[in-house]
Amino acid sequence: MQPANLSADRQAEIRRRISPAYDPAILVSAGSRLMELLGRHLESVQNREGPVLNWRPPAENLAAAGETLAAPAGPLAEIPDRFEELARLVLAHGQNLHHPRYVGHQVPASIPLAGLFDALGAISNQVMAVYEMGPFVTAVEKVLVEQLGMRIGWPAGTFAGFATHGGSLANLTALLTARNVALPRAWEQGLATAGNPVLVTGADSHYSIARAAGVLGLGTEQVVKAELDSRRRMDPVRLDTLLRRLRDDGRPVIAVAASCCATPIGAFDPLPEIAEVCRRWNVWLHVDAAHGGGALFSDRHRSLLVGIDQADSVVWDAHKMLFVPALCAFVFYRKAEHRFDAFRQSAPYLFDPAAPGGADFDLGLQTLECTKRAAALGLWGAWSVFGPGLFADLVDLTFDLTRKLHQLLTEQPDFTPLHEPQCNILAFRYLPVELAGAGPAEVGDFQLALRRQVIESGDFYLAPVKLDGVGALRVTLINPLTTLQDLHDLLNTLRRHGREVLHAVDILK
Ligand SMILES: Cc1ncc(COP(=O)(O)O)c(C=O)c1O
Repeated sequence: MQPANLSADRQAEIRRRISPAYDPAILVSAGSRLMELLGRHLESVQNREGPVLNWRPPAENLAAAGETLAAPAGPLAEIPDRFEELARLVLAHGQNLHHPRYVGHQVPASIPLAGLFDALGAISNQVMAVYEMGPFVTAVEKVLVEQLGMRIGWPAGTFAGFATHGGSLANLTALLTARNVALPRAWEQGLATAGNPVLVTGADSHYSIARAAGVLGLGTEQVVKAELDSRRRMDPVRLDTLLRRLRDDGRPVIAVAASCCATPIGAFDPLPEIAEVCRRWNVWLHVDAAHGGGALFSDRHRSLLVGIDQADSVVWDAHKMLFVPALCAFVFYRKAEHRFDAFRQSAPYLFDPAAPGGADFDLGLQTLECTKRAAALGLWGAWSVFGPGLFADLVDLTFDLTRKLHQLLTEQPDFTPLHEPQCNILAFRYLPVELAGAGPAEVGDFQLALRRQVIESGDFYLAPVKLDGVGALRVTLINPLTTLQDLHDLLNTLRRHGREVLHAVDILK
């Protein structure tokens, strides 16, 4: 049964109730307070005041976040106060990526103005799926795809691409296209008669590659790990042998997914050699350049990605090394003809074949998302305001600082860098004399316990990693405000906390 129609009085009462939620004056008042607050916050965080991570256990944050939902709505005049109070709460208990002592996961101290462009898209709710819902932001995305694709090395007009919500979704979409190209009936018929296909990837590739295999119906057990060389890069010679064996076994290969760079130590796979092997066996080459793509802006570091133009598909996260807020990731296809191969569906209630330009501007035809936020607005804004030289500078500064950290670690008797950095990711261990003679498991456990103590203290934020099963410390220098002095301080902080951890763990007892 339908509910009875609202009376005119009741309608008017509801309209009165919702009016503050849409009141532009309230937005202006709350917005100017937010800008003041964020300005002061960034200033203090960037000056290294206060902790990096505001650590407290999940239960405490759950209670605080839930409490505000239960609070009664206040009077109209108090809305800006209430807004500010909530904004302060978020900042007081968050992670401070702009703190120069944030050296953790691959999420940057984002360019603050890029965030303002995101806010512009969010507040006016510019969305995509069809061009007519977000005409200008669709154009923004298209011009960025063109510019970034040319940096990959492809001639204008020959390739295609789009932005999507993160590198994991980007990898999934590109690999779905690869699957549909390798197995042209899989979209309609599934994989029952597909002959047990596999996905080949490096042993260090990001988990989203194996996850994609699960989602695509291949099964994660059909992910064949290509062996790595001594620098943890995919070994093309052994890849060649592997592809020969798979061919002899009659196993269809969906794609070879290379990494530029892989997450654990930032190793860049040798693309020219891998591309040659893929051509020999007629296999789709996918390059996950979620992290390393940014190096294409740098004259000093572009050579890390030599050969990327030979990939059939590429993933590149702007919310990593192009320093824009999450999420903004791109998928590219070298041949524009593949742009509709991921999804083959019609939706007459949405896509209008009569629209001018039609399919190429209705980006929902190419993405998993239907409604999609204007993900590329922050990148477009930052690029337009500061120019592309900013991205080159950010890459050069952070990569250079990582090499300096490597040098510093090499000079310290109680630290061991575990590889030479190719970019701004570096794994290492702290090995105080007390650990002499300890086995790999104890050494690894100590690194992880030490990291936990340091991040909860708020002194620094760094990431964990396990290499060949043994725990280690891992930094990504992804805040251009971090200095060499901060890195000296990081080592001393690890020593200081290390003493406490050593007293608490079994090995010294
Ligand atoms: C190499 C690589 N690929 C993919 C991803 C996943 O990207 P996202 O976090 O945007 O989903 C990451 C994340 O760190 C990564 O390092």
